[in-house]
Amino acid sequence: MTEHQSTSAAAAGIPASPLRRSLVRGTAALAGASLAPALILPTHACAVRLPTVPYVSTPPDVVRRMLALGRVGRGDTVYDLGCGDGRIVIEAARRRGARGIGIDLDPVRIREARENARRAGVEQRVSFRQADLFSTDFSSATVVMLYLLFEVNLKLMPQLWRQLRPGSRVVSHDFHMGAQWPPEQIVRLRDKTLYAWTITPDLRAYATGQA
Ligand SMILES: C[S@@+](CC[C@H](N)C(=O)[O-])C[C@H]1O[C@@H](n2cnc3c(N)ncnc32)[C@H](O)[C@@H]1O
Repeated sequence: MTEHQSTSAAAAGIPASPLRRSLVRGTAALAGASLAPALILPTHACAVRLPTVPYVSTPPDVVRRMLALGRVGRGDTVYDLGCGDGRIVIEAARRRGARGIGIDLDPVRIREARENARRAGVEQRVSFRQADLFSTDFSSATVVMLYLLFEVNLKLMPQLWRQLRPGSRVVSHDFHMGAQWPPEQIVRLRDKTLYAWTITPDLRAYATGQA
């Protein structure tokens, strides 16, 4: 998959606010971290149709690194929004004792994921739903895993801020959230880049209008 560049804070649905100013300030810190191109953006980006996210699976060692970055443990509920064959939530249950929920639009992927969970012996700890991630209530997640596209991440970002409780982690394979939400950690693994964020009380309060 290739990375697309589009949108602005306003296009991503982020109104002017102190948080936006601090996010924009965060941009400076990102210069040189290969995120800066996300700032060169058409303002009409919100009117552009989202690209279709193709099915590309995350390699097993990258899955393990994503789980480590998300600090996934026994008490966690891990959502994979666009779960493919379910490998991330299955590994979260099998290796880390977490609970997992996978969401995918494609019924073929959901069938595969259920069969893979059965084979791995974790069907009691994971479940899979055929659904659109944008109409999914993932507020019970403590960790959200993503392998989507840049534009899709940007559209999802306000939903992540609104739905997730403070302390929840978000880990994304290969696609960041632009300068509006700089990642806390960036990990490179061969040709892969992983990004990690934590929902803060300020972010949640801002997104839910309680700031
Ligand atoms: C790049 S694959 C990632 C699969 C898996 N997360 C992994 O890392 O191995 C993206 C997946 O997202 C699914 N997808 C794309 N758009 C979606 C949407 N709006 N709602 C739910 N799933 C979606 C696709 O069907 C595909 O299986």
